[in-house]
Amino acid sequence: MLILGIETSCDETAASVVQDGRVVRSHVVLSQIAEHRPYGGVVPEIASRAHMEALMPVIRDALRKADVAWTDIDQIAVTQGPGLASSLLIGVTAAQGLALRTGKPVQGINHLAGHLYSVFLEADITDVEACFPMIVLLVTGGHTLLMRMDSVFDYDLLGQTLDDAVGEALDKGATLMGLGYPGGPEIERAAEGGDPRRFSFPRGLQQGANERVAGGLPRNRCFSYSGLKTALLYVLREHPDYLDNPEVVRDLAAGYQEAAFDALLNRLESAVLEEDVGHMACVGGVAQNKRLRERLEELARRTQTALHIAPMTYCTDNAAMIAGLAGARALHGLAPAPVHDVQPTGSLWV
Ligand code: KG4
Ligand code: ZN
Repeated sequence: MLILGIETSCDETAASVVQDGRVVRSHVVLSQIAEHRPYGGVVPEIASRAHMEALMPVIRDALRKADVAWTDIDQIAVTQGPGLASSLLIGVTAAQGLALRTGKPVQGINHLAGHLYSVFLEADITDVEACFPMIVLLVTGGHTLLMRMDSVFDYDLLGQTLDDAVGEALDKGATLMGLGYPGGPEIERAAEGGDPRRFSFPRGLQQGANERVAGGLPRNRCFSYSGLKTALLYVLREHPDYLDNPEVVRDLAAGYQEAAFDALLNRLESAVLEEDVGHMACVGGVAQNKRLRERLEELARRTQTALHIAPMTYCTDNAAMIAGLAGARALHGLAPAPVHDVQPTGSLWV
């Protein structure tokens, strides 16, 4: 079963060929970071134009690297949402056109479900079913979700951010500190060797353990990052000179990053203990962070839980996770989910 995956939900143009849901035969990602960097964030018009120019060459490259012809492909899978409407539209339209031209079925895949699946692209996992039940932390530029997974297709939302996503908080914090874009890797670099205790930043939503927030989720399993960003803003307003001193910036970055990760680790730990599961995972762009990976490993040792972190190359947006999930669906006998239109908003659907 060979599936061609296409991903254009944000600022990465990606295509991949995955065999039987697990074996990545090719994985091509063209990042647009350089084009968006001057604006300090993703500009939707620039993103969709860049996808339009890059997508067909990226798809051809993925087929060539996988050493397969169109006739070998069983199915096309494309990210349907959530994401930027104008970017999603390029991928979905291309997938529909290619399906018409080649006679292959096409299916729409949820981007977040793709991120959750990315952990199973880890070659070390030999038995996927043995990983459940599992608590998963999904940390990207647009989402921060705490999930319980009971199978590849069976998710329960335990908690989520009530405002900014953790990646977004890192991106905004980096801008405030005059670091580059995207902010996550810049803060990671700037924080190296810094003292995370010199500045104390808020951890968000410490109170109200028994309260429920909108959607019925327990407040103490949710996240809030807007206070962290504001705290940094106030420190810098009071001491603009801090930015002239690289040592202070190092400590600020270390403290900010640690506060962002503390909130993730606290919720993950209580969910693992309360749900009494033997496995936990972390996926999404922020999971590339070495400090976060270290802290996850420490938590796994302390709670004696098996830890699965998405391989580095499948943390940020890619098409292997989209083709992989489509392959898993097909192997489970699920009919291809039809793709009629893009779904820019909304969260997770199967
Ligand atoms: O998963 P992703 O590529 O795209 C979304 O679906 O949003 O995640 C992008 C996010 C950005 O906020 C970026 O700053 C963050 O992932 N990120 C990192 C690192 N690399 C990317 N955050 C922390 N440390 C990193 N090394
Ligand atoms: Zn993503």
